[in-house]
Amino acid sequence: MEMECLISLEDIRKRVKELGIQISQDYRGKEPIMIGILNGVIFFFSDLVLSLDIPVKIDFIRAASYGASMESSGDIKITKDVELPVSGQDIILVEDIIDTGLTLKVIKDRLRQRGASSVRICVLIDKGERRKERIYIDYCGFKIPEGFLVGYGLDFNERYRYLPGIFKLKT
Ligand code: IMP
Ligand code: MG
Repeated sequence: MEMECLISLEDIRKRVKELGIQISQDYRGKEPIMIGILNGVIFFFSDLVLSLDIPVKIDFIRAASYGASMESSGDIKITKDVELPVSGQDIILVEDIIDTGLTLKVIKDRLRQRGASSVRICVLIDKGERRKERIYIDYCGFKIPEGFLVGYGLDFNERYRYLPGIFKLKT
């Protein structure tokens, strides 16, 4: 498949460091739980956590909605849940990309129901193209208006996650 590079690995890492500084300032004196939404988040999550200078706990959740298509089915299934207790904790949900917002909405509501004392959202890419849920993004790496993106953890049908940068598929 043909693709064009939108953001180099170097530029991603520069921006992720800035997010790390901002989050460290905002959570100074606290020990939040960073929850990564698998699988796409893996590289972003590790670069982000390593750029913090505050103590954090880490955990993961996995949600499936896409199957082999380029559009969210809207039916979000939790296929691996958070394991740390979240009641009374400050949570930072870390996601690779927000599109419709359905995945983040479902997961954020779930954590609130379990008594998290705060839940903030950090995404690498905000793609406003097909937003359905109004959801506040506390920390955003890049805004990219449209297109299907792969690389740096993002996949198309499980392919291209390994690419060192963010690429746009040409369809
Ligand atoms: P949402 O529920 O529609 O906001 O979609 C969020 C999920 O869809 C993300 O966790 C991504 O895994 C996936 N996704 C959305 N847009 C893209 C894209 O352009 N490339 C790869 N995955 C995407
Ligand atoms: Mg994902």
